[in-house]
Amino acid sequence: MILVTGATGVSGSIVIREFARQQVPVRALVRNRAKARIFDALPSVEVVEGNMLQPETLGAALDGVERALMISSAAERMVETQTTFIEASKQAGVRHIVKLSGAEASVGFNSANFRTALAHEKIERYLEASGLAWTHLRPSQFMQFYFPGAPAMNLTADTLSLPMANATLAPVDIEDIAKIAFRLLHNGGHENKSYDITGPEALTMTEVAAHISQATGRTVRYVDVTLEGYQRAMLATGTSPERVEAFAELWGERRDRGESRVNLSTHEIFDVRPTTFAEFASRNAARFF
Ligand SMILES: NC(=O)c1ccc[n+]([C@@H]2O[C@H](COP(=O)([O-])OP(=O)(O)OC[C@H]3O[C@@H](n4cnc5c(N)ncnc54)[C@H](OP(=O)(O)O)[C@@H]3O)[C@@H](O)[C@H]2O)c1
Repeated sequence: MILVTGATGVSGSIVIREFARQQVPVRALVRNRAKARIFDALPSVEVVEGNMLQPETLGAALDGVERALMISSAAERMVETQTTFIEASKQAGVRHIVKLSGAEASVGFNSANFRTALAHEKIERYLEASGLAWTHLRPSQFMQFYFPGAPAMNLTADTLSLPMANATLAPVDIEDIAKIAFRLLHNGGHENKSYDITGPEALTMTEVAAHISQATGRTVRYVDVTLEGYQRAMLATGTSPERVEAFAELWGERRDRGESRVNLSTHEIFDVRPTTFAEFASRNAARFF
């Protein structure tokens, strides 16, 4: 059996849908069954409740699992959550853990300046030393994070306000990551390897705004703001000061160090066609406003 954790989240839910689309059984770990109603219409998905921070709740979820895709929120005690899950998996006889990590681990972000990068690094090293087979998937920024309401973003009906100057990013569609993760988990192999995953183009925020405008028919303008201005705007939305600091670290690293390298080698290895931002925006036009 294959287990996917973080199944109710942004990336986990798309991976679960890919398994359903391929009609391959998968088990979804959720903390709260009420949030898993989205899977009711997918008969090949087995939903099991459990908390990755509480190993005693994971027995049913881990029973008979050969490979697991490990995902949890970047915001909630990620290191403790995932190292606890690794230990529980080991006890339960799981053979191979695929970790959804981040590009920060590979593009040279200074993890001393960015807490999420540091957390991913710690978890990767912990998993590598665990004795389990491991594979790290290291995606760049998710395209889905340009939807309004996504954490760290500041997109309103007519402006995309970010402290990015003219720096570029190479965001990737989670649908591409889900296809890669499905092939890896279903077919096995690729043990003790790390895979960088980006989208096919390095885009300035002006270009991202233009793609969203083109797809939606509403003009969205990129406004370059200062890091301090960005932080003030995020605090005004009710985001906690700690998260705002983490987001500011992220954008600071992205602006100054860059995340613009395009690397499609993982798409090629798993035979997945890279989705362009224009295709993504056009497919999801209704979700932008
Ligand atoms: N944002 C990006 O552009 C980006 C790019 C590359 C990599 N990443 C990485 O991708 C990962 C996933 O991001 P995401 O946006 O998909 O996350 P997300 O939407 O916040 O989802 C996190 C999921 O983890 C679950 N979870 C958290 N703590 C748990 C626990 N103790 N036990 C069981 N489940 C738990 C949540 O369950 P509930 O529904 O119950 O809360 C939710 O389903 C993060 O590590 C992030 O750093 C993000």
